[in-house]
Amino acid sequence: MKPTDAATSGPAPQDRALIGGAWRGALDGRVIEVRNPATDELIARVPRMGATEATQAVDAAAKAFPAWKALPGAERSKVLRRFFDLMVRDEMRLARLMTLEEGKPLSEARGEITYAAGFVEWSAEEAKRVYGETIPAPSPDKRILILRQPVGVTVAITPWNFPAAMITRKLAPALATGCTMIVKPASATPLTALALAELAVEAGVPAGVVNVITGDAREIADSLLADARVRAVSFTGSTEVGKALMAKAARHVTKIELELGGHAPVLVFDDADLEVAVAGVVASKFRNAGQTCICANRIYVQAGIYERFAEALGLAVMSLRVGNGLDEGVQIGPLIDDAGMAKVEAHVADAVAQGARIRVGGYRLAAPAPLADRFFEPTVIEGITSAMLINNEETFGPIAPLIRFESEAEAIAMANDTPYGLAAYFFTRDASRLMRVAEALEYGIVGANDGAPSIPQAPFGGMKESGLGREGGKYAMDLFLETKYVSWALEPTK
Ligand code: SIN
Repeated sequence: MKPTDAATSGPAPQDRALIGGAWRGALDGRVIEVRNPATDELIARVPRMGATEATQAVDAAAKAFPAWKALPGAERSKVLRRFFDLMVRDEMRLARLMTLEEGKPLSEARGEITYAAGFVEWSAEEAKRVYGETIPAPSPDKRILILRQPVGVTVAITPWNFPAAMITRKLAPALATGCTMIVKPASATPLTALALAELAVEAGVPAGVVNVITGDAREIADSLLADARVRAVSFTGSTEVGKALMAKAARHVTKIELELGGHAPVLVFDDADLEVAVAGVVASKFRNAGQTCICANRIYVQAGIYERFAEALGLAVMSLRVGNGLDEGVQIGPLIDDAGMAKVEAHVADAVAQGARIRVGGYRLAAPAPLADRFFEPTVIEGITSAMLINNEETFGPIAPLIRFESEAEAIAMANDTPYGLAAYFFTRDASRLMRVAEALEYGIVGANDGAPSIPQAPFGGMKESGLGREGGKYAMDLFLETKYVSWALEPTK
């Protein structure tokens, strides 16, 4: 890790959010400071909006809805296609902005922009395919039509760890179906959201169809969910907040989709390809410094391959380069904030106090100025038991905990022994086992010999307390559509 001055050349401070086609500040002029997690440098200020601005955003989205809904899908498709093209044009600028505010390495940020643009491209195509149906009628004088219509004003509440993809995964299908949307990005990473909104405007999205409001998360969410005009909400974030939003959605029976916490198990069987398994675990565990909902959190390794796997993983992890994400070749950036660091340190300290052994890493790095004190050495830790915090909670950091197992049944039981059910991974070369284990894992996303399953066209979402509903591909459209049944009685022939 080395000091850098790259982070000092960030974007110009700005203090505007987008409501009804107008770039505005908070009514009372308050702002939120946005800091680079790698250096703590102030990079921008954005409006600290609240309940009143949230209502104004709903007013704007409700006003824009009839015209946007009435536009043929093929026309909405063209707007989305332009939005996609602009994201591709500005990939480097967006990626750099993301690295500045979120910390992830520039190469990963570029990958996220490509991933995020993929949702826009897919939705542009899908906008033309929001099909209805006809059902054969029970009598000659009837026709039965099924219409799929946009629900109306919708809301996206998004997290800091994927500042672009979690927005486009919600916004693009909403727009494709004819809904309007209010996006509330995380306060730590609002700049990518605002840059995306600028591109949406440039692409020709009409005023009020996309609104981005920054500010007090709880106040804004409470206000949006108390408004009966909001007909669907898509949230990505913690299980705790997701449950609270679900309770609030009950008030007006607002449709809600939740992508919540994970605690992903990885099962490495004796018959796995060692290189594939190590590469898969590194890809899953260390993406975004371990700050993803689908990252490996418990790595179960069968006894026959355990020593070789632990050795190879340790070597791979030792070679990961930590530093400012803007620096060439950096693979692991900072943790997002001090609370994130405290949780990672608590998980490691608790495990060690209960007898776990550190194979690689295990400590916070002493970062040279101007870097902040927020980098954790990529870690492999062994001897994990079921009582340890790390075995029971999402760590959200670059820590790979290893647990030895003997039989397939034992590994599946341990993998499923959690209230979470977002993503799971396993590595084997036995085709029968592959099918058996894929079916037995109680998770919405399963990576079979694959540590990087996220793609725009697949249904992304979790089981149990990891969520409700699916985003991505054609599945994303469901939240934003109502199904209407028209029973049509024909007049008798005269
Ligand atoms: C997440 O961590 O919430 C999203 C990860 C992904 O889309 O791959």
